[in-house]
Amino acid sequence: MCAAYSLQMRSACNAESGEHMCGIIGYVGARKVLPILLGGLERLEYRGYDSAGVCVLQNGKIVWEKSPLSMTSGEKVKHFASTLNAKKFDGTTGIGHTRWATHGEPNRTNAHPHFSSDGKFALIHNGIIENYQELKKWLKKRGFRFRTDTDTEVLIHLIHKLYRGDLAKAVAGAMKRVEGSYAIGVISTHEPGRIVAARLMSPLIIGLGKGENFIASDSPAIIKFTRKVHYLEDGDFASLTADKISITRQGGKRVRRKTHTLTYDIAEAEKGGYPHFMLKEIYQQPEAIADTLAGRIKKNFAGVTFGRLGITDAWLKKCKKVVFVACGTAYHAGCVGRYFLRDVIGLDAQVEFASEFRYFPPELDKNSLVVAVSQSGETIDTLVAVREAKKLGAKVLAVCNVQASTITRESDATIYTHAGPEIGVASTKAYATQLAAIYLLGISLGELKGKIKPAARKRWLRELSEIPRLAQRTLEKTKLIKQCAQKYRDCTTFLYLGRGYNFATAYEGALKLKEISYIHAEGYGAGEMKHGPIALVQWTYPTMAVAPRGKMYPKMVSNIEEIKARNGIVLCVASENDRAIKALVDHVLPIPEVSEELSPLLAVIPLQLFAYHVAVVRGCSVDQPRNLAKSVTVE
Ligand code: M6R
Repeated sequence: MCAAYSLQMRSACNAESGEHMCGIIGYVGARKVLPILLGGLERLEYRGYDSAGVCVLQNGKIVWEKSPLSMTSGEKVKHFASTLNAKKFDGTTGIGHTRWATHGEPNRTNAHPHFSSDGKFALIHNGIIENYQELKKWLKKRGFRFRTDTDTEVLIHLIHKLYRGDLAKAVAGAMKRVEGSYAIGVISTHEPGRIVAARLMSPLIIGLGKGENFIASDSPAIIKFTRKVHYLEDGDFASLTADKISITRQGGKRVRRKTHTLTYDIAEAEKGGYPHFMLKEIYQQPEAIADTLAGRIKKNFAGVTFGRLGITDAWLKKCKKVVFVACGTAYHAGCVGRYFLRDVIGLDAQVEFASEFRYFPPELDKNSLVVAVSQSGETIDTLVAVREAKKLGAKVLAVCNVQASTITRESDATIYTHAGPEIGVASTKAYATQLAAIYLLGISLGELKGKIKPAARKRWLRELSEIPRLAQRTLEKTKLIKQCAQKYRDCTTFLYLGRGYNFATAYEGALKLKEISYIHAEGYGAGEMKHGPIALVQWTYPTMAVAPRGKMYPKMVSNIEEIKARNGIVLCVASENDRAIKALVDHVLPIPEVSEELSPLLAVIPLQLFAYHVAVVRGCSVDQPRNLAKSVTVE
């Protein structure tokens, strides 16, 4: 396993093998299983899309197919499905996998499912087996031959070796010897009509049907068939037949898991007429922000309510320090939160990369609140930071989009962002809703601590409730963005500058551009520019400045002047009707007038759209950029 894994490092890590993100699905029931597996894999494609495979139990055999997926085609699993001879698969029990390989070539051999040497057992896996080398040596000594470069293959040989007539026992025995993370599904010709599953540190749900049951990494894969699900806990094993589900712990003790009802609309998991999920999700932001705020702003802006939060007001009142912890886009939301808490309520607030937090945690005690921000609730770095924070005595509050995800289950309380499923790998509506939730939290903390007076609270909440309408207006003023995207499509590098609250907006805009258009973009604090990056400025190095009106505006204007004086091209997100900026820069991307503190909610929108349109004109795979996956469930 790579010790410090970064999203861009997949190919650099190819020396070792492992499946990190990946989507898994399994079905047992009376219907033909192939279309269920393929449909599910299509919806799980966001978890990994370099290869896919399915296998089906029928007539005492396991029939399978797997293949690498085209990195250029937009319809990866769909294309794989079209190459299959459906007539070959008529069984009603099966498992499927879509892979996101971190190491080991994404080829047919390494794709899942993996099989025992006698062909009687098959397995799909999401996670990493950290001690696979050791296990491989042990198995090889006992005559097992390995066909793939993956860590996963040890699991299927172990299960085969330990099988004594009970698949669940063999799986439990195998997982006892394993170090690492896993969500697995296993089938065997010895036990037709049964799937055995297990989970540790990788997400896995069970879908409950009538005369049929499912396993999946995530609910969109099965929502078409059932809305009733169990979320497996770390260390759970599950045995599924068409009529029965039994969940056990290591040692065989039966446990019960709560049945959750999925409440989102099935259409939400589809593109809804947009060419890409990302565009749909950008346009959903006004509604998504409204959903985050819904029911949380009291009548007449009399305060904020989170319902039964799980952390008491009395505790929050006494809390002395807030540390935001997150990765990527969610980290940028934390950056805005840090300034809001410091600036508006004078609280000791900081923000940390989750990937650093575990190794260099800040000083925390029983009066500290750690706010873990995560769209998926499954990002392993953030999850590990949550565990570390709890160990250090802090309370943990998750700001999360995915119901009952691991981070929410391990935190003391959760503020759900209610953004709906975010499928595009580039995070957009999740970011906006994380910001909205963080502002609510800040206002609520400020009031509890007596740092925000009733008049200010009313003003903040009124303005916040106006944001969905203003976000809608921002989206309507985007014609120019497409033209800019055309004009700058061939640039090789971009500088993104912001200050204060929009320091994070600049970073977020740069992240969006690089992840989906593959243009290098550097986010930078505008005040820091004169300490180095200004040396790069010339007409071939355009700058995207974020300069809405507010405290930092005059400073931003000076920084922009410095660039213009050196023949730099400047595109600028600015307040509408700002004539001075219009005269100064090359292109204005306007946003409505809003307080500087809340401006990140609007200022990010033109940057998301700019990145989107540049990626489209460059012919990039917008929803599934190369080397990335939606949730990063590995360190
Ligand atoms: O699910 P999370 O919010 O925890 O994910 C964190 C990052 O991996 C994520 O925000 C990533 O940076 C986005 N793809 C960026 O658009």
